[in-house]
Amino acid sequence: MTTTEAWTAVHDHAARLKPVHLRRLFAADPGRAAALAFAEDDLSVDLSKEKLDRAALDALLGLARAAGVEAQRAALFAGAPVNATEGRAVLHMALRGGAPAPAGDDVDGTRERFLAFAETVRAGQLPGGPVRDVVNIGIGGSDLGPAMAARALVPDCDGPRLHFVSNVDGAHLADTVAGLDPARTLVIVASKTFTTQETMANARLARDWLGAHAAERMAAVSTNLDGCAAFGIPQERVFGFWDWVGGRYSLWSAIGLVLAIGIGAARFRAFLAGAAAMDRHFREAPLERNLPVLLALAGIWRRNAMGWPSVAVIPYDQRLARLPAYLQQLDMESNGKRVTRAGAPVGTATGPVIWGEPGTNAQHSFFQLIHQGTDVVPVDFIAAATPRDADPRHHAMLLANCLAQGQALAFGRDTAEVEAEMAAAGAAPEAIARLAPHRSFPGDRPSTTILFRRLDPHALGRLIALFEHKVFVQGAIWGVNSYDQWGVELGKALARPLIPALAEGAAAETDPSTRALIDRIRALAAG
Ligand code: F6P
Repeated sequence: MTTTEAWTAVHDHAARLKPVHLRRLFAADPGRAAALAFAEDDLSVDLSKEKLDRAALDALLGLARAAGVEAQRAALFAGAPVNATEGRAVLHMALRGGAPAPAGDDVDGTRERFLAFAETVRAGQLPGGPVRDVVNIGIGGSDLGPAMAARALVPDCDGPRLHFVSNVDGAHLADTVAGLDPARTLVIVASKTFTTQETMANARLARDWLGAHAAERMAAVSTNLDGCAAFGIPQERVFGFWDWVGGRYSLWSAIGLVLAIGIGAARFRAFLAGAAAMDRHFREAPLERNLPVLLALAGIWRRNAMGWPSVAVIPYDQRLARLPAYLQQLDMESNGKRVTRAGAPVGTATGPVIWGEPGTNAQHSFFQLIHQGTDVVPVDFIAAATPRDADPRHHAMLLANCLAQGQALAFGRDTAEVEAEMAAAGAAPEAIARLAPHRSFPGDRPSTTILFRRLDPHALGRLIALFEHKVFVQGAIWGVNSYDQWGVELGKALARPLIPALAEGAAAETDPSTRALIDRIRALAAG
């Protein structure tokens, strides 16, 4: 990509726009706010506070075409093995009716089975009596999706209470089950592979905690049905899925069982329908008004044309508190890649660092750096226009803060304005000279604002699918495989021989630094 004319054209626009302040871009084009805002149904993506203009966006669209995004999208939906390093198709869209399922895989039947089980649990009809608490044990994609969604949809959670245990730190399970009754708790072991060290260790610990109830109180979700059987979970409580569903894209499969138990089958179907609506939009809308494509192109602009290495995701919605963590895995595990699909160095920057916290809290912690620090950190603001159940006045305060942050970042407050304001307030010239530099905001800092009507299951499904497809488009332009994650393997392999060294004091063949740290840990533990 980096040697194409389309790439050069994008960079030429970047060179033109870098010195132009966002204030000037708005002043030069009175229609800018409308021209750079895009919507589908009640979901909108406003790019007007990004440091680009219509001509730059056209060049980015040219880049998407030159990269063959449309053909790659067709291959994705047709079930081609786009995850080439693992020889797999990528068809999580089939789980929500957004793409045809591979022949022979009973997607509908499997969905009906786990939704029926969810309803049985909700109705208190599981053998052994009603369930009051459900503990989902899983990590990464087998945890973050359902945990994020369960928090996002609290008003819809009218079933048993949901809990999530991911960390192999024994404190996580211990603190979670403290106060729960094993007789009234269902433990779901969620693991695509059913081999993940942390999950299996927690599953064994949970089985011990359940004691005599374990036979009736455990369920499993996995593609490894033999592994579930070997663990002792009866077939009627095992729910499968397929290798064409990546872990970080698996929320739509039976990995969503815990969520389905919380919100019920009907709302879970609405959640799937929201994602399917985004699949349809992504598949059918021309690139010029295709929301995942536009969001992806704004990201390429930030990362490659402007050279900014991170993105802050700031939902102005407390119930979306886990969205940044969810998007961290989705984006960074997908596009944190350094070689192309052909194995050559990628030749440009790929996935940015994704991080964030909900607003307004973030304003009172790290926003200082985003406003006045030396790095430019583009921000994705995400908000619902109306609250589900909160006080409307609070919601107005929340949204006012969201909009004000985007405004302050883009337009800032220059030194002359600060000086004039201080003078008008009667400050002494000495104080003005001393304080004005500290009180000035450079502005010209980019943000995208994503708005929708209300955070319900349909809207959440659509929002997640928007980001899934955005990640796909960026991977398609960078030419990387967004669907493997070899980078997490080395650490897992290196941890294995260290466990006996730390647990039992066994000798370990390791490097001098790790050896010294082990000795230090042993000395500290010995008191
Ligand atoms: O280690 C990374 C990873 O493989 C993720 O991609 C995945 O979501 C997570 O571990 C959990 O894997 P599993 O569902 O197989 O337990």
